[in-house]
Amino acid sequence: MEKHFFELLKNRRSIRKFLQQPVEPEKIDLILKAALMSPASKRTNGWEFWVVQQKNTLEKMAECRPHGSKLLENAPLAIIVTADPNKSDVWFEDASIASIIIQLEAADLGLGSCWVQIYNREKDETISAEQYIKNILNIPAHLHVLSAIAIGYKDEERKPFDIEKLAYEKIHFHQ
Ligand SMILES: Cc1cc2nc3c(=O)[nH]c(=O)nc-3n(C[C@H](O)[C@H](O)[C@H](O)COP(=O)(O)O)c2cc1C
Repeated sequence: MEKHFFELLKNRRSIRKFLQQPVEPEKIDLILKAALMSPASKRTNGWEFWVVQQKNTLEKMAECRPHGSKLLENAPLAIIVTADPNKSDVWFEDASIASIIIQLEAADLGLGSCWVQIYNREKDETISAEQYIKNILNIPAHLHVLSAIAIGYKDEERKPFDIEKLAYEKIHFHQ
C-alpha cells in the first residue's frame, strides 16, 4: 500500500533554520492555493493570507515576541494567517487549519516550516505581538492575526517520528 501522506507526516518536523535560497514562485503559488482549499466552517473562508519575502520586514517581524519568533529573521518566506471574527465564530479553528495545511503543502514540496504563534502573545508590556505585526504589515483592525508560518529550504536535519514511540496511551478504544 502506498503511504505517501503517512510518510510525509512522519518526516514533518518544525524547521527553524533555513538556507538563504528563495522559494520558487511556483511553489509559493501551490502553497497559497492549498491554503485557499482549507476546510472552513460553513465555507465562510474568513481567513486572509499575507505573503512576506522582504528581508527587512521579516527581520522586524522576528522581534514580535521576546522568545519563539527569532527564526523568522532567517526565513526567506513567511505567510501570515489572519481571520475575520465577524465572518466566522470559529475563525480560530479555521485559521489553525489553514496554518497546518500551509505547513503540510510546504512539506510535500520539500520545504521546511515552523508555526510562530502571534495571537495571544505579547511583544512586551506595551504592545501585543498581534498589534505589532498588524502595524508592520498594515493589516486592517478587524482581522485577527493567528500565526506566521516561516517557510524555506531546510538548513537543519530533524529526526522523523519513531512510530514505535508514539504516545499510544492517549488513544482510548471504547469497548
Ligand atoms: C499552535 C502552535 C504554536 C506554535 N508556536 C511556536 C512558536 O511560536 N515558535 C516556535 O518556534 N515554534 C512554535 N510551534 C512549533 C512547536 O514548537 C512544534 O510543533 C513542537 O515543538 C513539536 O515539534 P515538531 O513540529 O518538530 O514535531 C508551534 C506549534 C503549534 C501547533
